[in-house]
Amino acid sequence: MRYGYFDDKNREYVIDRPDVPVSWTNYLGVKDLCTVISHNAGGYSFYKSTEHHRVTRFRQNGIPLDRPGHYVYLRDDETGEYWSISWQPVGKDFNKAKYFCRHGLSYSKFQCNYKGIEAEQLLFIPIDDDVELWDVKVNNKTRKKRKISVFSYLEFSFHHVEIDNQNLQMSLYASGSNYKDGIIEYDFFYEPWTYHFFSSSFNPNSYDCVRDTFIGSYRTETNPAAVEKGKCSNSSELGGNHCGSLHKKISLKPGEEIRLIFMLGVGSREEKGYSLKKKYSDLKNVDNAFEELKKYWQNKLSVLQVKTPHPGFNSMINIWTLYQAETCVVWSRFGSFIEVGGRVGLGYRDTSQDIMGVVHANPEKTKQRIIQLLKGHTTMGYGLHLFDPDVFEPEEHKLPNVKLPTVVPRKKPEDIIHGMEDVCSDDALWLVASICEWVTENGNLEFFSQVVPYVDGGEGTVYEHLTKILDFSAKYVGQNGICQGLRADWNDCLNLGGGESAMVSFMHYWAVNIFLESAKQLGCSDDIKKYTSMAEKVKEACERELWDGDWYIRGFTKKGIKIGTKESDEGKIFLNAQSWAVYSGAASEERAVKCMNAVDKYLYSKYGLHLVLPAYSKTDDDIGYITRVYKGIKENGAIFSHPNPWAVIAECKLGHGNRAMKYYDAILPYNQNKIIEIRQAEPYSYCQFIMGKDHAAHGRARHPWLTGTASWFYTAATKYMLGIQPTYKGLKINPCIPSDWKKFEVIRKWRGAIYKIKVKNPSGVEKGVKSITLNNEIITDVIPIQKARSENEVEVIMG
Ligand code: GLC
Repeated sequence: MRYGYFDDKNREYVIDRPDVPVSWTNYLGVKDLCTVISHNAGGYSFYKSTEHHRVTRFRQNGIPLDRPGHYVYLRDDETGEYWSISWQPVGKDFNKAKYFCRHGLSYSKFQCNYKGIEAEQLLFIPIDDDVELWDVKVNNKTRKKRKISVFSYLEFSFHHVEIDNQNLQMSLYASGSNYKDGIIEYDFFYEPWTYHFFSSSFNPNSYDCVRDTFIGSYRTETNPAAVEKGKCSNSSELGGNHCGSLHKKISLKPGEEIRLIFMLGVGSREEKGYSLKKKYSDLKNVDNAFEELKKYWQNKLSVLQVKTPHPGFNSMINIWTLYQAETCVVWSRFGSFIEVGGRVGLGYRDTSQDIMGVVHANPEKTKQRIIQLLKGHTTMGYGLHLFDPDVFEPEEHKLPNVKLPTVVPRKKPEDIIHGMEDVCSDDALWLVASICEWVTENGNLEFFSQVVPYVDGGEGTVYEHLTKILDFSAKYVGQNGICQGLRADWNDCLNLGGGESAMVSFMHYWAVNIFLESAKQLGCSDDIKKYTSMAEKVKEACERELWDGDWYIRGFTKKGIKIGTKESDEGKIFLNAQSWAVYSGAASEERAVKCMNAVDKYLYSKYGLHLVLPAYSKTDDDIGYITRVYKGIKENGAIFSHPNPWAVIAECKLGHGNRAMKYYDAILPYNQNKIIEIRQAEPYSYCQFIMGKDHAAHGRARHPWLTGTASWFYTAATKYMLGIQPTYKGLKINPCIPSDWKKFEVIRKWRGAIYKIKVKNPSGVEKGVKSITLNNEIITDVIPIQKARSENEVEVIMG
C-alpha cells in the first residue's frame, strides 16, 4: 500500500494519504535551531541540544506518537466548524478534506483543502536566524465571502529534558509567560538568561500563553476550547505550562488569498523578538530566506549529481541519502522521535562514520566534528565512546554561574573520561578513515600537522593522534593475535571484553592501509615501514585464525570459544565478518568469493541482508547482550541496515555489479514505497533496522534517520558502484554496475573543478574500464587534478 510519492523535480516527498502507520519525519534547521517534524506537523524544537535547550515540548512515546506539534487551526466563523491545516490534530475525515504534506530539504509544507478554503503552512528555519517561520496562506476558492479565524498553537517545553520529565513540584513553577506588542515571551525564572518567543506578522485579535486555558479541561489538541469558542482568552501566567497561540480573524473575498507569518524564536522580546518580528513581517524577507535555504541545498547537492538508469538510485543519491547523512552530521544522533534527549553529544564511532559520507558536501562542519572528536581522544589511543564536546570547549559557555535548583550539574572533563572498561574497540579506528578522506577530498595535507589536545592531557598533531589509534589496536590483541572486543565493537551488543573481534582486526588492517596512503604523501618513511609491517602482521593473524572453511568467524569469547562458526547452532554466520574481510582487503581472493557466496546463501532476504543468523535464543553473556535481544530484532538477527552497504562494497571489490545492485535494491527505502503496510516507516530514509525473518513482523522498518546507513550507502553507491573516488593523485574511476546498465553520468565538483563524467558500457560488463578520455585526451591512470573553475569532459568506456 502506498501513502505518497517522490517528487524529484521539487526535491520533495509528498504524502497524499496522511494516516501512515507511524510518523514520517523531517528535519528543519541547518545550524543551531532544529525542529523534528512529522507529516502531521507534530514534533518539537530544540536549540543546539535536545538535552539542555529544548524549545517546544514532545510527549515521547505517546498516543498518538507525534503530539504536540506546531499547528495552525482554521475556523469558519459563520458555522463554527474548525480544522487544522495538517491532517492532525483535528483529523477531519480525509475523504471530505484533502491533505498533503510535502517534506522537502529542511522544510515541510502542509496543505489542506476543506469546503473551498485552500490553506498552506510552510515551516522552515532561515539559515542565519534562530527562528522558525510558519508561512501560512489561506485562499477562498468559493464564490462567497468567508470569515475565517486562524489560530496558531505550540506548547513550550521546560528547558532541560530532565526537568521536563521529573520533579514537576519544582519545574512547574519555574517558567512564565507574558504578552506585549504582539509577542508572547516565554521565560525561565531560574535561568534569567533564557527566553523563547512566539510572534506574528499581524496584530492578533486574541492570544493565549497558558496551555490549559487554550486547550480547556479534558480536551486535547484535537478540540481546543479556544478554537471551538472562536477566540483565545488573553491568558498569561507566571508558573505553569505555556503555549504560543495567536489568533487572527480574516475575511476573504471570493478568490482572495491572505498570507500570515508566525515566528517561533530563541531569545527575549527585547533582544530578538522585536527585530525578528519586524524582519519577517516583511514577506519579501520570508521569500528571500526560503530561497536562500533552497540555494544552500542546491549548492550542496550539486557537488555530486548522478543520472543512471535506476530512478530510485538517482532520487536517493541525488537527494535523500545525502540529506539523511548530513542530518546525522549536523544534529548528531540525538534528536528524533526515538532519541528524545537526555543522551546527547557525539558517539565516537557514529559521528566518525557519518562524517565520511559528506566530506565533499560539508567540509566545514565535518572538519569541526573531526576536531571535536580529536579533543575526545585519549593519549592511550582510544576515543570516548559518547561525550558532549561542549564540555571540552569551556569558552563556549557564557552562562552565568548561578546555582540551579533542578538542572543537572554541568559535567567536568574528569567525569566523562572513561577508562578501559568502557572502551569500544572500533570507536577510534573509524576516525582514521574520516580524517584521511577529509584530506583527500579537500587536498589540505597541512591538516595533519594541526595540533589538537588529548582529552587526558598533552597534545599532538592530527597525524600523531592517528598513529596512537593504530598502535592501540595493535597493542590490545587477545590470545590469538586478533583485536580484543572490549566493551563492544561496532556491534554494541557483542560484548567480548578480553575475547577477540574479527571485525576490529579487519578494520585495523583497513585503517592502517588508509593511513599508509597519507603517510606516503607526507614522506614519513619510518612510519611507512612500521605500519606496513603492522598491516602484514594483522592480515596474517586474520587469515590464520579466522577462516572457518566457508566463511570467516566473528571472533572468540574470552574463554576462547569461536563465535559465528558452522559448529554453533545459533549465530552461525555474521555478515560483518565476511564483508569486512573483503572490504579491508585482508581476505584472499578465493576466500573472499566463498564467504560472500555464503552471505548470499544464508543472510539474504528480499528486505536486505541479515546481520547474523540464526538469531540467538539462548543467553550467553560471554557473547553479550545480543543473546538477550528478541530474535529478529536489532542486533539479534534483524536486517541491521548499517552493515548492508559494507556488503555492497565487498561485492563491488569482487567485481559483482549485479549482486551489489541486488543488495542495494533489497533494502532501498524507495523500493518499499508500495509496501508501507509492511515497512511502515518513511520510504525516503534508511532506518536503523528491519525486522528479520525470525520475527513475526519481518520487513517492518524501525528508527528512521539517525543511522550510519545513510553515510555508508552514499559511499557505497558513489565510490564503489559508480566508482568515482578522489585519491591523492587524482580522480579514480572504477565502476561496478549491473550488466544491464548501458550508461550513466555523473557530475562531480572536486577541488574547485567540474568533471562531467559519461560512462558507457557497450559490452554489458559489471566491472572493468577499457578506456578513459579527459577532454578528448587518453588517460591511462587516474584523472589528474584539474585547475579550479575548469569544466572537464570525461568519457569512460567499460569493457
Ligand atoms: C546503533 C549505534 C551504533 C552501533 C549500532 C550497532 O546504530 O548507534 O553505534 O554501531 O547500533 O550496534
